[in-house]
Amino acid sequence: MPDITIVEVGPRDGLQNEKRIVPTEDKLALIELLRAAHLPRLEVTAFVSPKWVPQMADHEAVLSGTPPAEGLIRSVLVPNERGALSALAIGVDELAVFTSASETFAQKNINCSIAESIERFRPIAALARRHGVRLRGYVSCTVDCPYEGPIAPEAAARVATALEELGCVEISLADTIGRATPEGVDAMLAASTTELASSKLACHFHDTSGLALDNVDVALGHGIRIFDSAVGGLGGCPYAPGAAGNLSTLPLVLHLEGKGFSTGVNVACLREAEAFAIRLRG
Ligand code: HMG
Ligand code: MG
Repeated sequence: MPDITIVEVGPRDGLQNEKRIVPTEDKLALIELLRAAHLPRLEVTAFVSPKWVPQMADHEAVLSGTPPAEGLIRSVLVPNERGALSALAIGVDELAVFTSASETFAQKNINCSIAESIERFRPIAALARRHGVRLRGYVSCTVDCPYEGPIAPEAAARVATALEELGCVEISLADTIGRATPEGVDAMLAASTTELASSKLACHFHDTSGLALDNVDVALGHGIRIFDSAVGGLGGCPYAPGAAGNLSTLPLVLHLEGKGFSTGVNVACLREAEAFAIRLRG
C-alpha cells in the first residue's frame, strides 16, 4: 500500500473548465493514459446538468468507456438522485456528492442552500449503500469563497461532519479558488481534524497563487494522506470566478516522493498523460 493516495480529478475537474468541449474519444484516451500511470482513483466525469456544465454532457459515454479494473476506483460527481441513478445504471465504483462551506457558492454552483444540499444527498447515500459503492463528499470553499471572502474554519468542519453523518467514507476539503494561504489551511484543518479522523479527510487544492504544494505540506502535518490533483494542472470551476487550475499531479507526485512518501504512481507514464492533457487545453 502506498503511503499517499492520489485522487486524479483531471478528466472531471480539469476538463469541466475548458472553454472548448473536449471530444469524448480524447477524454477516454486521457483516462487510458492515467490508468496506465497506475493512478488508483480516477474521477472520470460528472453526472450534472448539461445546461449547467456542457463540458460534461457526454458523461454516460465517458463512464461506459471506462471499464472496471482491479485496483481502480472509478468515481463520478453527482449533484442529485437522478445523476446517481444514471451512473449506477452504467456501473461505477464511487459516487461523489458536492456542497460548500459558503452559502453563496452553494447557491451559485448547485442552486440550493447547504442544508438543502445535504437533504438532496440523502437518497444518493441510500443508493450508494444499496449498491455497495463508495460515497465521497466534497466541501468547496473551505478557506475562501469567491463571493463571501474568508470562511470560518468551523463552517468547513460543520459541513464536513454533516457529510460524514450522511455516510461519506471520505470528505475532500477544497480550496476552490486556490487562494488559501498555509495559515488559512492550517486553521481549517485544525478545526476539521477536531471533528473527524484525518484518515477520512482528503485535501483538494487549486493552485491560483502557487501555494498548493505549501498547503500540501501543512495538510501532511495534520495527518492527511489523500490528495486530489489534476494531470497537467488542468481545471477550475465554471461557477468560481478566478479559480485556476488544480494542483498538478506530476509535481505533486514528485514533491511527495522527494519527501520519502510512496504514491504507487508510474512517473514515466504520468509524464505521457501530462503531455497529452496539455495538448487538450483549448
Ligand atoms: P437546477 O436548475 O436547480 O435543477 O440545477 P433542475 O432540476 O431544474 O434541472 C435543470 C435542468 O438540468 C433540467 O433540464 C433537468 O432535467 C437537468 P430541462 O428540464 O430544463 O431540460 N438535470 C440533469 N440533467 C442530467 N443529469 C442530472 C440532472 N439534473 C438536472 N443529474 C443542478 C440543479 C444541481 C442540477 C445544477 O445546479 C447542476 O448540475 N450543477 C452542477 C454544477 C457543477 O457541476 N459545478 C462544477 C462541479 S463542482 C466543483 O468543481 C468543485 C469541486 O471540484 C471541489 C472544489 O474545487 O471546490 C468538486
Ligand atoms: Mg475543484
